[in-house]
Amino acid sequence: MIEELIKNIPKAELHLHIEGSLEPELMIKLAERNKIELPFASVEEVRAAYEFSDLQSFLDIYYAGAGVLLQEQDFFDLTWAYLERVHRENVRHVEIFFDPQTHTDRGVPFQIVITGIHKALVEAEEKFGMTSFLILCFLRHLSEEAAMATLQEALPFRGWIEGVGLDSAEVGFPPEIFERVFAKATEEGFRKVAHAGEEGPPEYIWQALDLLGVSRIDHGVRCMEDEKLVVRLAKEKTPLTVCPLSNTKLRVFNKMEDHNLKEMLDAGLCVTINSDDPAYFGGYMNDNFLATQKGLKLSQKDVVEIAKNGFRASFLPQDSIDEHLRSVDDFVAKHSD
Ligand code: ADE
Ligand code: ZN
Repeated sequence: MIEELIKNIPKAELHLHIEGSLEPELMIKLAERNKIELPFASVEEVRAAYEFSDLQSFLDIYYAGAGVLLQEQDFFDLTWAYLERVHRENVRHVEIFFDPQTHTDRGVPFQIVITGIHKALVEAEEKFGMTSFLILCFLRHLSEEAAMATLQEALPFRGWIEGVGLDSAEVGFPPEIFERVFAKATEEGFRKVAHAGEEGPPEYIWQALDLLGVSRIDHGVRCMEDEKLVVRLAKEKTPLTVCPLSNTKLRVFNKMEDHNLKEMLDAGLCVTINSDDPAYFGGYMNDNFLATQKGLKLSQKDVVEIAKNGFRASFLPQDSIDEHLRSVDDFVAKHSD
């Protein structure tokens, strides 16, 4: 059964906003613990608010929800809940985004945010053998100066942060605004990724590649509108961290059957499957794989290739990537017996 294969195959998640893994139950618990008033009286009311028409309608609720996160323990609990959950889905490696400006702008110190997250990552490696990297995302609806100041704040924690990214409202905030910030991140030795081509045009993907120097594109589904771009992404094997349930919830595609992930694969692109903001979009890694396989009738070969791409596209050293790829092959051989 392909469902069993999907649930148990070793996986890597490369596109996960830790603030987007805040489940309504934990949101309500933290609101009580921190004496914060929420506009919702129950878990059901929170879930009922999760009907989105586009990226901005989601971001408004996502930033409001993150307002319950105040103490180091809150960031630990949030991160731990996610790691425990995906451990049960045989996710072996994660690369997690965090949005420090969402918290520092509310007066929560950078150190509190990153320490809570980092401690949970260390514990997951000790308890589950799950490896991880942290990627700091700049909010693109805020200024270049604010992003630069955030990069400066991150430098004392350089050892805990593998890379930088760019997220939040896309249209009207092209990557070129952040060229100098990413140049500084390059000097500091960070890896670089950016959300591009989720709602924004292919031009934003070109800018992310040529002006920011990113090595992965987050989402990138609109690349398929530009043949030259597809050829380039395929030739350079630039990974795309696609988030199918997010794309259908935010109406990038009306339904899973309309998603272009299979065309991306068939065009030779290094496509990965990820959850983006699982608490808001109705599914973690397995749900994303299952819904995509079903909606697009992916073959077992497609599913295995996508799972392998997750490791290939990761920032792990090559010997670890090779080890993970062997473990996928071993799993598939046993599964097919
Ligand atoms: N922040 C959290 N989720 C996001 C998404 N899907 N696009 C842009 N910014 C985000
Ligand atoms: Zn995202």
